[in-house]
Amino acid sequence: MLTIALTKGRILDETLPLLEGAGIRPEEDMRTSRRLVFATNRDNVRLVVLRGSDVPTYVKRGVADFGVVGKDMLLEVGPDDLYELLDLGIAKCRLMTAGPVDADPVVGKKRVATKFTEVARRFYAEQREQVEIVKLYGAMEVAPLLGLADEIVDIVDTGNTLKANGLEPRQWIADISSRLVVNRAAFKTENQPLMQLAQSFAEQLGQNLGGEN
Ligand code: PRP
Repeated sequence: MLTIALTKGRILDETLPLLEGAGIRPEEDMRTSRRLVFATNRDNVRLVVLRGSDVPTYVKRGVADFGVVGKDMLLEVGPDDLYELLDLGIAKCRLMTAGPVDADPVVGKKRVATKFTEVARRFYAEQREQVEIVKLYGAMEVAPLLGLADEIVDIVDTGNTLKANGLEPRQWIADISSRLVVNRAAFKTENQPLMQLAQSFAEQLGQNLGGEN
């Protein structure tokens, strides 16, 4: 049995056509069902829908054979025990810092709100800037509005969410897209069904299989 861990939301929507192209169809509509584990038309393949931050854990622990997850999450949790096989080129966006439009310079240590605390820690350390990181779980854009933070580190796609909240993008941190990841140990066992499926994705995307991070 192959278990594929998918990230719910936009990544799931954009992954389903790739699965379809590989001949894998869930037995129910994954976008509307409340179910979290789905059988498919293939007896040996099941799909599970998770929060992006949990996908690496399932794959690292070998419970899921594959994961489809944003590079933002991979940057946050680190590459241990995971191989990035393919850049799926979907759910593209950028990780950026952002802050209030026309903000005055910060006096003292800058406070940065984010759910990407590791990414932020590394980024500001590279900039040799001392900051206080405030961990949040969503709606980061609220933090500068209410005075919880001076800056945020978040995903920016169209920029509409920043704009609607009086914020503007500042520094680019990384380009993001969704990746197909596999457990490092499983990859080395030359599991045939697993490699066939990965190959099918690669062919659809006109890419060669990776295996480096
Ligand atoms: C993400 C991100 C921003 C928004 C950016 O949130 O956190 O809020 O999208 O998109 P935009 O630049 O096109 O406005 P998402 O809705 O994915 O939910 P999240 O809060 O769970 O990250």
